[in-house]
Amino acid sequence: MLDQKTISIVKSTVPVLEQHGETITTRFYQLMFGNHPELLNIFNHANQKQGRQQRALAGAVYAAAMYIDNLETILPVVKQIAHKHRSLGIKPEHYPIVGKHLLLAIKDVLGDAATDEIMDAWTEAYEIIADAFISVEADMYEEAANQKGGWEGFRGFIVDKKTVESDVITSFYLKPEDKGEIADFRPGQYISIKLEIDGEGYTHIRQYSLSDAPGKDYYRISVKREAGTPNPDGMVSNYLHDSVEEGDIVKISAPAGDFVLDIDKKTPVVLLSGGVGLTPMMSMLKTVVEMQPERKVTFVHAAANGKVHALRDEVEELAQLQNVASYFFYDSPTEEDRKNNRFDVEGYITREWLEKNIPTKEADFYFCGPVPFMKAINRFLKELGVSEEQIHFEFFGPKASLV
Ligand SMILES: Cc1cc2nc3c(=O)[nH]c(=O)nc-3n(C[C@H](O)[C@H](O)[C@H](O)COP(=O)(O)OP(=O)(O)OC[C@H]3O[C@@H](n4cnc5c(N)ncnc54)[C@H](O)[C@@H]3O)c2cc1C
Ligand code: HEM
Repeated sequence: MLDQKTISIVKSTVPVLEQHGETITTRFYQLMFGNHPELLNIFNHANQKQGRQQRALAGAVYAAAMYIDNLETILPVVKQIAHKHRSLGIKPEHYPIVGKHLLLAIKDVLGDAATDEIMDAWTEAYEIIADAFISVEADMYEEAANQKGGWEGFRGFIVDKKTVESDVITSFYLKPEDKGEIADFRPGQYISIKLEIDGEGYTHIRQYSLSDAPGKDYYRISVKREAGTPNPDGMVSNYLHDSVEEGDIVKISAPAGDFVLDIDKKTPVVLLSGGVGLTPMMSMLKTVVEMQPERKVTFVHAAANGKVHALRDEVEELAQLQNVASYFFYDSPTEEDRKNNRFDVEGYITREWLEKNIPTKEADFYFCGPVPFMKAINRFLKELGVSEEQIHFEFFGPKASLV
């Protein structure tokens, strides 16, 4: 346990570190990857280039430091990050490496202002924060490996089927290469996929939500091809689309994530998605239909038009059921879409539409999509008086702010 003096040094220096936030973390990554290039096998290079991960990791260390004398308070946040760490294969031996280089970077950037007393206090604080993560992650590793059909680390899966779902989204049905059982998962969870790409010096890991209901003998992921113009095209999504074929083997870690449908609840469920953000919603929709047929579920999906709208047939079929409603929003419908009545509303989802068409404030709302979509939905729900406990969302990248 830290003494009171150390605690107050740490807490009082958080604002200073936040002020130098990005300078420190940029330096931290430079130093760390310089000394440990092998870590480039784990970190997402595109997130690095865009600074997203810099902000996420640093922000979390500082936020944890503010609660250094009461880390229990931020346990849900620790768990959410730990899910991602577990699915990536972050191990206890990685923590001292991050700690050492973060402290070196702080010293580098703050110079004389980083006195020995401050550095000692942060060394102690980091150790406590790291131990909290390591212990939560140890439980998660054990659970992932010891569950029925579970495994440790990355396991080979064969691409059993590859299905084009739209101009930009393709599904991959994955079965274990060893023909053994696969672990169950909760609807909304994701897997990490690790690829060795020809000509690339490092492996690349990405997360993909499972887009079918649990309880099958395969996992299905549905991947959007990320075109980059003017930036480089997305590395993994394009490789999956262009170069991974039926019969190929990919490596994935066991399902993870805390964005999950609570099937113990009976409240109506409203699933809102934009673009490829529909993947976890598909799993939730199918699960409700299979396991809670008496529960009301509304599936609201926004896409540009029918050309990029994936999995519509699956949703339309389920929407025939009594307790399922679905609405499709297209913001740029094609002539074909108009002719064939392929959408319900032209334009974006609005607060007014939600107010009029979503029957109850008792519902649980789940949403995922591009960040501007998520910000709008979050704002509408708040304005409509939906409480925090009823609002659940997933980011398809490092966590960002919704306000
Ligand atoms: C929990 C979770 C679930 C997810 N579920 C799904 C899912 O179900 N389906 C799905 O399709 N995706 C999903 N994703 C997103 C997925 O993990 C990948 O982020 C996505 O496929 C893009 O990966 P990529 O390798 O193709 O692109 P990356 O190479 O990672 O590039 C990402 C973006 O950065 C841009 N970029 C690359 N390099 C640079 C640069 N130097 N400068 C500026 N910009 C650059 C690219 O153009 C691209 O737009 C999920 C993510 C998370 C975290
Ligand atoms: C106490 C120490 C740490 C904290 C507070 C922390 C915090 C975070 C946070 C907030 C995220 C983003 C999660 C999200 O929103 O998706 C993240 C992701 C990640 N972390 Fe950590 N982390 C720590 C230690 C480590 C260590 C030791 C490693 C391994 C060397 C590591 C590797 C990663 C990687 C690879 C990602 C995903 C990055 C990406 O996709 O770009 N972290 N971490």
